[in-house]
Amino acid sequence: MKVSKVCCIGAGYVGGPSCSVIASKCPEVTVTVVDLSQERIDAWNSPDYNLPIFEPNLADVVKKCRGKNLFFSTDITSAICEADLIFISVNTPTKTFGLGKGRAADLKYIEAAARMIADVAIGDKVVVEKSTVPVRAAESIQRILTANTKKGCAFEVLSNPEFLAEGSAVEDLLHPDRVLIGGEETSTGRAAMEKLAWIYQHWIPKDNIILTNTWSSELSKLAANAFLAQRISSINSISAVCEATGADVAEVSHAIGTDTRIGSQFLKASLGFGGSCFQKDVLNLVYLCEALNLPEIAAYWQQVIDMNDFQKRRFASKIVNCLFNTVTDKNIAILGFAFKKNTGDTRESSSIYICKYLMEEGAKLKIFDPKVEKEQILMELNHPNICNDPSRVEKLVTIHKDPYDALKGTHAFVVCTEWDEFKSYDYSKIYNSMLKPAFAFDGRRILDWKNLQQLGFQVEVIGRKTWLNGTY
Ligand code: UDX
Ligand code: ADP
Repeated sequence: MKVSKVCCIGAGYVGGPSCSVIASKCPEVTVTVVDLSQERIDAWNSPDYNLPIFEPNLADVVKKCRGKNLFFSTDITSAICEADLIFISVNTPTKTFGLGKGRAADLKYIEAAARMIADVAIGDKVVVEKSTVPVRAAESIQRILTANTKKGCAFEVLSNPEFLAEGSAVEDLLHPDRVLIGGEETSTGRAAMEKLAWIYQHWIPKDNIILTNTWSSELSKLAANAFLAQRISSINSISAVCEATGADVAEVSHAIGTDTRIGSQFLKASLGFGGSCFQKDVLNLVYLCEALNLPEIAAYWQQVIDMNDFQKRRFASKIVNCLFNTVTDKNIAILGFAFKKNTGDTRESSSIYICKYLMEEGAKLKIFDPKVEKEQILMELNHPNICNDPSRVEKLVTIHKDPYDALKGTHAFVVCTEWDEFKSYDYSKIYNSMLKPAFAFDGRRILDWKNLQQLGFQVEVIGRKTWLNGTY
């Protein structure tokens, strides 16, 4: 056996699901996930499996192993001391102040975790960075560890970026396209990579485990997310052309996606991508290129973000234009606040920005999301970058537990998240409960717009003219 005890620092969206799956696939390995937050750990340990993050099938995986070879704890020191292999899965948000503000990743949590490991570790450890980090972060971790190493300890740092997507995390972890492990090209580096590969080989074919040098691994993660984000920005740019010409972006996506050289995934036009990774990682790449004196490359990737911002703004402007150029004091229902379906995560959700722009125009928002808590929505909307006057949010926003309640008496509704349940609502009943003309804005293209039109709605969807010759 190459590894008997694993510790994971950070029990969030990355650390929690990845280590739960590792525990379920490696019954002989003891996995302890630790976090500074007692509340988070308590939720992971909750008797009714009311876990701190919502992910399909995750509770089943945790049920299978918790208390056997999977533990959640705030005793970080003991977990580090006992482990042979330590994953660092802490948060790496974009810096909000100082050098690199708004672009560079804030590595303070990574650094704190590395210092903690150096402080308390006894014996040799493999330290694995799993959080998405800027290229050469492993080198910084290695330097912190080496500078603080006690006698008899040796550390080998690996990069093992996580490619799971929220909402399908368990599935992605069980059946990854590949696992990427980056390490030093030395004998100790090789040995450490083999240890980590041994864990994944419990359920992943050897050929799907790619070994690279550390920097390639770190850059591949940024590049993968940048390429995916770029596809969405590209198709969103085409959606604007479709709306202006009568082409349909879904037909264009299908037509170009059937070319095997292009492929069909990540070509769904939307009101803009969200989530904790895409924007952060592209900005990271931009910052890296600037630091490397590659301004043309930085500008190229910055366009992916600019196009995404433009798409969100364009969609919000369309809402205002259609509602006779004013939404002041009009009631607008927002369906969906999560950044995508099947998650309760709202980080960088496009919905936040649609709400921001509509609030700036004085609209009254009635928000419903099947999985996001009221406090979470209010926390996002009260962020100083979104609205720095809490009384305004209080005046303009109400959060609803029932979608029909949210939609009642509104001038318009806006689909911001592609939750499946939105497709099966009784739109005839909804139409009757709304003010007329009743407007439907589908930022995800999930509703049957022809049916909505037949019911009497004025419909606007991303990437298609829903009216011809000036009439709906
Ligand atoms: C992403 C990467 O997919 C994953 O590999 C990486 O580890 C983390 O970042 P995630 O952010 O969880 O995962 O979700 P993803 O499914 O990639 O969606 C990101 C955003 O793009 C969402 O807002 C989604 O709605 C949007 N999107 C996705 C589109 O607008 N169109 C598409 O075709 C696909
Ligand atoms: P991600 O999406 O990258 O998993 P999250 O914010 O969901 O990010 O999770 C990161 C977790 O890491 C948080 O629960 C946070 O409390 C935890 N964390 C941050 N720094 C440390 C640390 N030094 N020791 C233990 N846990 C930490």
